[in-house]
Amino acid sequence: IHIPDTPVEPHKLVESDIQDLAKDIRKELGGRHVELCDVAAYYFDGQGKAIRPLISILMARAINAHLNGGDSFIKTSQRQLALVSEMIHTATLVHDDVIDTSDTRRGKPSVNALFGQKKAIIGGDYILAKAGAMVARLNNDEVTQILAQVLEDLVQGEFMQMGANDGTSERFTHYIGKTFNKTASLMAYSCKGVAILGGSDESLAEMAFQYGKHVGIAFQLIDDLLDFVSSTQTMGKPAAADLQLGLATAPVLYAAQKHPQLNELIERRFSKPGDVQKALDCVHNSDGLEQTKFLAQKYCLEAVHYANTLIDSSYQKALINITEKVLNRSK
Ligand code: FPP
Ligand code: MG
Ligand code: MG
Repeated sequence: IHIPDTPVEPHKLVESDIQDLAKDIRKELGGRHVELCDVAAYYFDGQGKAIRPLISILMARAINAHLNGGDSFIKTSQRQLALVSEMIHTATLVHDDVIDTSDTRRGKPSVNALFGQKKAIIGGDYILAKAGAMVARLNNDEVTQILAQVLEDLVQGEFMQMGANDGTSERFTHYIGKTFNKTASLMAYSCKGVAILGGSDESLAEMAFQYGKHVGIAFQLIDDLLDFVSSTQTMGKPAAADLQLGLATAPVLYAAQKHPQLNELIERRFSKPGDVQKALDCVHNSDGLEQTKFLAQKYCLEAVHYANTLIDSSYQKALINITEKVLNRSK
């Protein structure tokens, strides 16, 4: 990967756009029922990575610079879309913690652990409702359609993940498809959305989409890798959580190529006593983790390729720098 000579710290670069993000979202979530607002606002505590708004804002400014002779001035609508992106993401986390019966997130009690399942579900719905209203206010049909597509993809992705694990040959394709739906779609369409709002033509909007898609898939590949190597302490959630949930992610799928006896365990979703430990041992006794990282690297290289089609700007450089951060993160 080509690393720009002048180091650009992406967070620093767009600090003024990002610093009040959580506060502004909390404001959007205001309403007459205090407890509902509290449930919905609970994960907007400024502790999240906020990678979606970061990428969206960098893309918005890089596109604007590209189209306006270097002037990267961000439009209000583009920043609103960055907020929407984080809100949709957080709504899915709220529902995800109910589905996964997680009792911690980011090192604190999960929303469902604190408020109970029913209120968490309604709180997640409330975030989505508010995000939907914000999209409507943008008054752009194409962007509205894009965000409807994201919601469908997220739901499809979660459903694919619950689906049957049979048929060894299609497993990896299914996994990448699921990964696009559950993670990359939101990033891809957020990038495309800010590009459209900035006045991009179809091919520029497509470039933004492809950048977000490739970064998104790489991001989830690393997430799936970290599930095997991180402890509860660094991730703020239990390690090997995916195996315990019955999920076969890239490291296991690669490990199964060397240890075909894993296929049976994958098919029964690691449900028998000892399955999780056996799968862990196989992964660590294979190059599944290295291969996963290698694949993530390939996706990042593709993302860099797309970012390189934009004119040179600090934001364009930061988009490239982000791919490095996505690859090398440890939480
Ligand atoms: C986190 O995955 C979950 C997602 C990225 C998507 C979850 C989607 C839904 C629950 C569908 C509902 C959709 C809407 C629009 C509300 P994970 O469980 O692998 O991550 P984690 O380790 O952070 O819990
Ligand atoms: Mg989860
Ligand atoms: Mg989940």
